[in-house]
Amino acid sequence: MSLDKVNRDKPLDRLVARLAPDMAAVNVLILDRMASEHAPRIPEVTAHLVEAGGKRVRPLLTLAAARLCGYAGPYHIHLAATVEFIHTATLLHDDVVDESRQRRGRPTANLLWDNKSSVLVGDYLFSRSFQLMVETGSLRVLDILANASATIAEGEVLQLTAAQDLATTEAIYLQVVRGKTAALFAAATEVGGVIAGAPEAQVTALRTYGDALGIAFQIVDDLLDYGGDSSVIGKNVGDDFRERKLTMPVIRAVAAADATERAFWSRVIEAGDQRPGDLEEVLRLLDRHGAMERTRLTALDWAERAKAVLAELPADDLRDMLADLADFVVARVR
Ligand code: IPE
Ligand code: IPE
Ligand code: MG
Ligand code: MG
Repeated sequence: MSLDKVNRDKPLDRLVARLAPDMAAVNVLILDRMASEHAPRIPEVTAHLVEAGGKRVRPLLTLAAARLCGYAGPYHIHLAATVEFIHTATLLHDDVVDESRQRRGRPTANLLWDNKSSVLVGDYLFSRSFQLMVETGSLRVLDILANASATIAEGEVLQLTAAQDLATTEAIYLQVVRGKTAALFAAATEVGGVIAGAPEAQVTALRTYGDALGIAFQIVDDLLDYGGDSSVIGKNVGDDFRERKLTMPVIRAVAAADATERAFWSRVIEAGDQRPGDLEEVLRLLDRHGAMERTRLTALDWAERAKAVLAELPADDLRDMLADLADFVVARVR
């Protein structure tokens, strides 16, 4: 394997290495702000999740965007911690909503403690994220991150009402994905540019990059829910099927279904009558209609869109890493 290929394979590690002092400062801030003097349950739950790690993709995006645009001040650290707090809060809530049992290779907080703790500690982290962003003194970043938070919630609620509905279209799916996932990616990159005082064309490019990257990321996450290895992704596979969610591979297999297959989808998704062996039948149908492969191609297309807008940004090793990250996000499906 060429050195070039090896380097491209690990863009997250390269971003971590390139931004190491910044990332260390972000981690210190996260540990400091996730504590609570008054409610011991809070540090128990936050430590459980934070110590498990997570890829830290979103804070890396904020740091990379700010540095790429020449920022030399202190507030990109606050913003990076803010986006990771918003992300962690949504994960706590998401695992309650999805009744998930595994996250970051560990039992979920809702399983170890209970739904109440997850919801309330999630609320706490959201509030802490607002405090962090206020410290930057920038109303514009407040606007961007407040909008993102509202959009994430809208995406999750839209998904809730679209679940179990075989009529869900790719357009609705895209709206869900843009809301629940891409909104935070887009905000993470955009605020990096804004805090750096970058020209508007660059800020827009950063936002567009984050949006497209986030969409590719979630499409791949949805592929992994059918084709991933739970010990690698740190989450259970098959959760989306159990929750009767219409993700892109399923939407495409349903669109191509014959009458017998249609009856199967109707039973397992609409009626929720799922029996042993049904998940295997789903995998067979996805394969039969090439739904996984076609979905992967769509994710690749979004990654290409993400890379294309980077041309607006200054030529820099960080820009190259952001381009490689777009490739990497889709490559994790293989
Ligand atoms: C999980 O995000 C939620 C999705 C948007 C699919 P990540 O895969 O970034 O989660 P962590 O932070 O690395 O655990
Ligand atoms: C992730 O949604 C998006 C948010 C957390 C808002 P999913 O439910 O698809 O993600 P995983 O698979 O639980 O990480
Ligand atoms: Mg989930
Ligand atoms: Mg979910």
